[in-house]
Amino acid sequence: MRFDSNPLSLYKNKHNHVFVKFAVSFVLLGLAFRLFVSDSIRFSSVNFESQQTQIHVEETNTGPPVPSPPTINPLSADFHPNETHISSNQEKCDLFTGEWIPDPSGPIYSNVTCHAIEGHQNCMRNGRPDSGYLYWRWNPRDCELPRFNPERFLNFMRNKWWAFIGDSISRNHVQSLLCILSQVEQAVEVYHDEEYRSKRWQFPSYNFTLSVVWTPFLLKAEVFEDINGVSSSEIRLYLDELDTKWTEQYKNFDYVVIAGGKWFLKTAIYHENNTVKGCHYCPGKNLTELGFDYAYRKALQLVLSFVTRLDQKAFVFLRTTTPDHFENGEWFSGGTCNRSVPFKEGEVEMRDIDGIMRDIELEEFGKATGIGAEKGVTLKLLDTTSLSLLRPDGHPGPYRQFQPFAKDKNAKVQNDCLHWCLPGPIDSWNDLLMEMMVDGING
Ligand SMILES: *[C@@H]1O[C@H](CO)[C@@H](O)[C@H](O)[C@H]1NC(C)=O
Ligand SMILES: *[C@@H]1O[C@H](CO)[C@@H](O)[C@H](O)[C@H]1NC(C)=O
Ligand SMILES: *[C@@H]1O[C@H](CO)[C@@H](O)[C@H](O)[C@H]1NC(C)=O
Ligand SMILES: *[C@@H]1O[C@H](CO)[C@@H](O)[C@H](O)[C@H]1NC(C)=O
Ligand SMILES: *[C@@H]1O[C@H](CO)[C@@H](O)[C@H](O)[C@H]1NC(C)=O
Ligand SMILES: *[C@@H]1O[C@H](CO)[C@@H](O)[C@H](O)[C@H]1NC(C)=O
Repeated sequence: MRFDSNPLSLYKNKHNHVFVKFAVSFVLLGLAFRLFVSDSIRFSSVNFESQQTQIHVEETNTGPPVPSPPTINPLSADFHPNETHISSNQEKCDLFTGEWIPDPSGPIYSNVTCHAIEGHQNCMRNGRPDSGYLYWRWNPRDCELPRFNPERFLNFMRNKWWAFIGDSISRNHVQSLLCILSQVEQAVEVYHDEEYRSKRWQFPSYNFTLSVVWTPFLLKAEVFEDINGVSSSEIRLYLDELDTKWTEQYKNFDYVVIAGGKWFLKTAIYHENNTVKGCHYCPGKNLTELGFDYAYRKALQLVLSFVTRLDQKAFVFLRTTTPDHFENGEWFSGGTCNRSVPFKEGEVEMRDIDGIMRDIELEEFGKATGIGAEKGVTLKLLDTTSLSLLRPDGHPGPYRQFQPFAKDKNAKVQNDCLHWCLPGPIDSWNDLLMEMMVDGING
């Protein structure tokens, strides 16, 4: 198991931290930039990606898979005819508006029953002392959100292939799904790339394949970072070319969850039509600052046009941006996230960058759904931003490391207030996925 010296390094490059602040303000050109507002909490605006962390799911492979008898009728296990009815009734229900309510039943897996949890997100094992954050469930205002039913899910997924496409948050998300599903059947890892960032698993008795494809920009990009996230040169981003890492496999996929976001905040040179079109935060380069929003919009347009243009009738979820919760500093300057209960609606305000990203997501998604519908491609927006914003208590914080205060209870440790503890609030993203998937099949 490897712990990296500084994986929280979205911006970590030869520029120093002061530059980061300028970068952020520059991005917000014309927008009021305030770190905090008086009546509600506004979180800081710097992000990171632990792009060089590894997924520690090798344990998944230990021991032979336990095949269960392949006698299951896809719809028999937990399927009651009236559930179809319930689901279609919910079509008009907004699953993403609601509140977190206490849930004494807690998560269906733990650090002991799931072996797929990446070390940095294994808050229980790492010694996070409080456990209150595990006892909440997302309650949409106008409808019931059923708990994820892994057996029913796997029955739906017989002979299917599901892929998560994006950055380390997508990996966080897939691990939640693996943990939930592993309560029914252990996944067998069948592939990983050199850095353990892209992976593929099989659920043998269901012939269900699950992939995570690491492509933080979704676009073709040249990233010059070493294993510690220290970059030697600006990222080169090709705004008119998708990353073939995912597009070449795309024809295999029946379901995909696509997400982008945080990496677009990094310094990058933007290439388009075989020329350098401009950049995002590149002082001294004599290039036009185009803003991260320019690139992010281009990326989503290209992605959505790709998935709607194909003859392949995949079921596509676009997940909206995930908020971080650094307080009293940034990730590099002692920012923390030590709250232990969710916010109530109105207690917290979305920060500008997340608002900009989500607006772009909503706009581009809106434009694409019409085209998707004509082509028979199901497009759904997994709009988790606001409900996740209410969960400042769900991040590893200092417990991204194993027992960070074992030797010195005042130790200065870097906090992770972006990724999510497993189990944790991100499990509810899968409750939502399952509900939307069932609804999409029945509707
Ligand atoms: C659904 O059907 C089951 C029996 O098949 C019944 O017990 C349950 O109450 C029904 N639920 C609703 C919401 O009608
Ligand atoms: C699981 O977490 C508990 C604390 O919640 C810890 O005592 C235990 O050692 C952990 N077990 C594993 C296998 O990580
Ligand atoms: C398993 O599923 C794949 C699609 O994901 C399909 O191509 C293949 O034929 C299936 N295998 C069996 C044995 O049904
Ligand atoms: C791309 O560049 C070529 C010249 O190299 C130009 O003729 C063409 O109009 C450009 N296309 C777009 C879409 O900008
Ligand atoms: C910056 O670029 C413009 C045109 O691209 C050029 O006219 C100008 O001289 C450049 N400035 C410097 C300082 O290189
Ligand atoms: C949370 O962290 C802040 C400093 O970032 C500290 O002042 C406060 O006491 C901490 N709260 C708890 C409950 O540890």
